Amino acid sequence: MSHQIKFWAVVPAAGVGKRMNAYRPKQYLELAGKTVIEHTLSRLLQANVFSAVAVAISAEDPYWPELEIAEDNLIITAPGGKERADSVLSGLKAIREKANDNDWVLVHDAARPCLTTNDIHLLIDTLVNDDVGGILALSSHDTLKNVQDKSIIDTLDRRTIWRALTPQMFRYGMLKSALEKTEGNHRVTDEASALELMGFTPKIVEGRPDNIKITRPEDLALAQFYLDQQWEQQ
Ligand code: C5P
Repeated sequence: MSHQIKFWAVVPAAGVGKRMNAYRPKQYLELAGKTVIEHTLSRLLQANVFSAVAVAISAEDPYWPELEIAEDNLIITAPGGKERADSVLSGLKAIREKANDNDWVLVHDAARPCLTTNDIHLLIDTLVNDDVGGILALSSHDTLKNVQDKSIIDTLDRRTIWRALTPQMFRYGMLKSALEKTEGNHRVTDEASALELMGFTPKIVEGRPDNIKITRPEDLALAQFYLDQQWEQQ
């Protein structure tokens, strides 16, 4: 009997968000009446495609057990890791009994609460028959510089430069093996980079610019603005 391909989501949510200088990790800051991570997880659940959503949470996190969404039937809690890639690997391990190597996994940052259902479906529809998978990305409008010691070494050709967003969509088996083989490598700052180091060439799918990652304090107000805009457009 052939296995029906399933879709899984993995959400790394074990970061402390130092650049926010906030009183709690950024995924638990308030945004439009809920925490950032509740928005993020609701968006994934609303897409209605995932067999489960594995969320990697730090062992010292007192906020997660207080959220109602942590009890949702589709949510699986996994231990967080030292780096983002370790947290993603932990999320993958939490579903290993259920997932098949050919199933698709969409990894999405907890700190990106403005992801739209349309972008989730666009990514899936574009890549579902691809051999490797790929990521949502945005072209760069700014001119980008390669800098060392505050001096410009050269200017990158922005026609070929894209900013990596999430979700990033790869086959369960290929992603797990790439993350295991590249464990501890500081060049692995997203899933695609682990696959690239294995010699694969992931695709990019143009995403929406409002899929921002909450990183600095001013990003919360921007996220609020984008959520309001999305609600108005509904
Ligand atoms: O710090 P940064 O914004 O790059 O983090 C991206 C995502 O990875 C966040 O959702 C954060 O919670 C998560 N993360 C993690 N485990 C770590 C570091 C970051 O799950 N050790």
